[in-house]
Amino acid sequence: MNIILDLFGIHIVFFSTILILCLSWLFWPRKNIGTRKILLRTIGLISVFGIILAFRAYWPYSYEKNYLNTPVSKEIMSTPLKALADSIDFNIGVAIASNSEFKELIAKEFNSVVAENDFKPKKLLIDPVHWKFDFSAADRLMEFSKSNGMRMRGHTLIWGKFPGRTYPQLWKKQIAESADKEETMKSIMTQYIHTVMGHFKGQISTWDVVNEPMAGEGLYPSPFTEAMGEYYIDWAFKHAHEIDPDCSLFLNEQIYDYDGPAGKAFLALLKRLKKRNVPIHGIGLQTHHIKGIHDLDGLKRFIRAIGELGLKVEITELDIRLLLMGNEDDPYEAQGVQFGEVVNICLRDQACEGVTFWGLTDKVNWMDHIPPFSWKSPNAPHILDEDMRKKPAYIHIWEALKKAQPNF
Ligand code: XIL
Repeated sequence: MNIILDLFGIHIVFFSTILILCLSWLFWPRKNIGTRKILLRTIGLISVFGIILAFRAYWPYSYEKNYLNTPVSKEIMSTPLKALADSIDFNIGVAIASNSEFKELIAKEFNSVVAENDFKPKKLLIDPVHWKFDFSAADRLMEFSKSNGMRMRGHTLIWGKFPGRTYPQLWKKQIAESADKEETMKSIMTQYIHTVMGHFKGQISTWDVVNEPMAGEGLYPSPFTEAMGEYYIDWAFKHAHEIDPDCSLFLNEQIYDYDGPAGKAFLALLKRLKKRNVPIHGIGLQTHHIKGIHDLDGLKRFIRAIGELGLKVEITELDIRLLLMGNEDDPYEAQGVQFGEVVNICLRDQACEGVTFWGLTDKVNWMDHIPPFSWKSPNAPHILDEDMRKKPAYIHIWEALKKAQPNF
């Protein structure tokens, strides 16, 4: 329900209003002509208003690509991001699909990768009834990262959100019907984490153990919370630590209001986990700019606050929807500046160990396939454009890395 409201809220309100008005008109006593007329006119008016709004909202925009007028400097063309990041021991990464057509370029530009989807429960556990796994796509990516000396971030073991899409619907059913929910959930998590972490043991040094546990100020309601409340997080981390004590264990989350209730609730959760000695080593801040632009000062303070808890940080899923910059004189440039600033903030805080972009090129971008973002273009959220040219984003990121070099 949450996701439906989240994605379709405004449409639900609009269509239910029209529906209620139509039903009222249909069943209103026919002799009451005056009221029926008013109802009909209101329906007409709201529909016209709605159509105008829909046109306005979904009309595809396009912005001037001013960056094409300025040639990219020779130094930027000849020094990949990876070279700059390697020299300061910084992780610069990108999300990748196992069938990616850009592998060669990715190996040249990045020292770290993460599977966009291929390490997720829905991809690996192909038959949850018989606990049957398929590691073939994930193994191909693992091979690619190893053969190019790149770090692979593991994403993700337990995903707190969206039953059916992120973890098997079966788990929901099993918990709902279980007489001992806690034991059932523990055994599900044991089997899952054991199999997946065990499979990659010694190859993956950083895992997102729990992804997106929060929904605003609270936890996202799931079979995990139904069975164990907040302690499912403790349990997942403890178990992951037992399986691979050398692995860096992360909790990954998308936060927007760093200084608001959700940000505060998240920090409070981290404090409780630390107090309970949960073996958690780092926090992944997804930093998708999908619904709004992140407040950079807030992000800076947030990273510091996490660092002060003794935890590492990584920016794990950075992308910036171009439309959010629609009011700027040069949206592509504004998008680039924001990319550069986020990278710079991470570079300047000792707790922050890397930035991963949630895709490489606007040619293939996940937002174009997920409603409601797919309904309105251009999303163009990545650092290369659809023709693989370097956008201002690339240049600003490159400059941030360059300025962080010891001899700059
Ligand atoms: C997204 C992928 O990019 C899409 O291809 C897929 O359809 C849905 O998941 N937060 C996360 C990522 O932790 O795993 C999500 O990736 C984006 C939001």
